[in-house]
Amino acid sequence: MDAIHKKQTLGQFFTTNDFWLKNHILEFIKSTPATIAFDPFAGNGDLLRVAKTIGFKKTKGFDLDSNLNWTNNDSLLFIPKIDNSIIITNPPYLTKYSASRKGVYESVRKYFDICKYDDIYQLAIERCLINDYGIMIIPETFINSKFSKSRLVSITIIEDQLFNDTENPICVICFDNKNKPYNQVKIYKNDKFIGDLEYFEKLRRVPHKNIYIKFNSPKGQIALRAVDTTNPERQIAFMRPEQMDYNLSNIRNSSRLITVIELNANNEIIDKIIDHSNNLLIDFRRRTEDILLSPFKGNKKNGERRRRLDYLTARAILEDAYESVYPNIKLRLL
Ligand SMILES: C[S@@+](CC[C@H](N)C(=O)[O-])C[C@H]1O[C@@H](n2cnc3c(N)ncnc32)[C@H](O)[C@@H]1O
Repeated sequence: MDAIHKKQTLGQFFTTNDFWLKNHILEFIKSTPATIAFDPFAGNGDLLRVAKTIGFKKTKGFDLDSNLNWTNNDSLLFIPKIDNSIIITNPPYLTKYSASRKGVYESVRKYFDICKYDDIYQLAIERCLINDYGIMIIPETFINSKFSKSRLVSITIIEDQLFNDTENPICVICFDNKNKPYNQVKIYKNDKFIGDLEYFEKLRRVPHKNIYIKFNSPKGQIALRAVDTTNPERQIAFMRPEQMDYNLSNIRNSSRLITVIELNANNEIIDKIIDHSNNLLIDFRRRTEDILLSPFKGNKKNGERRRRLDYLTARAILEDAYESVYPNIKLRLL
């Protein structure tokens, strides 16, 4: 298998930078009774090398690639529990969709067949949770996934680009052996503690779907740039279609980054809805520190992560804006 194929099927992206090891993550590692660092997806052994520099005398590695010098093991199927160990790993990431698109689905089908996840890194987390303690570098999309987070001690978003060969936005989870309520799961952005998971979960927006709002409608009156550009001045925003620097006749049903939205509203009201929506969005982003918006590959020029506004949250924001413009909304149901 060549290196490109190994990247596509085995997710061989190696963690050669160690700036993911923030002080609070190091403190967590030191607070555990573990004496062995264990990477069940060891690759080139970069994470075990970091473990040695922080004092682990014993390390253990597994990998599926028999050309690497580790115990050969399919860790997506089974990971043995190693007493007194802490898992420190960056497992493979691969969605069902991208496996099919890259033509490698057949070689990973067996993993998708045995789980309900649509990315194999989540199967890797499930396997690693056999252990009492662990640190895992995983896609940041995990935060918005339905995967239970009750074994976690913390989630840390790493904004700096960790890998030289992929721009995948990532986070680091630390877990121990106790189930806990979400108000005990700490969230960090880089080095900064920004709140507990319960606080952020309460801020999630769910639309009521009680107002006619149609996305990707070429005759819509509101355009939405649903993704931050790399220019911090040009963020996600609602606007009039003629203000969008993009040919909106290209809008398809599957457009997720730029869209045109149709509402039941008089032309003179549209600008008010746009203004309200933008203000609500700015407030939502400030209160949630952006972490409930999907991460988007590549950072802004100021180093912050680019974000994408999913259409459910966009709909919830538009509903609130619409209701503040039309307070007697109940008369205007679908
Ligand atoms: C993202 S790389 C990370 C390597 C290393 N943990 C690091 O951070 O540098 C994932 C590694 O998992 C290995 N791998 C992929 N599928 C595996 C499986 N089912 N069982 C064990 N190892 C696997 C790949 O060969 C690759 O070396």
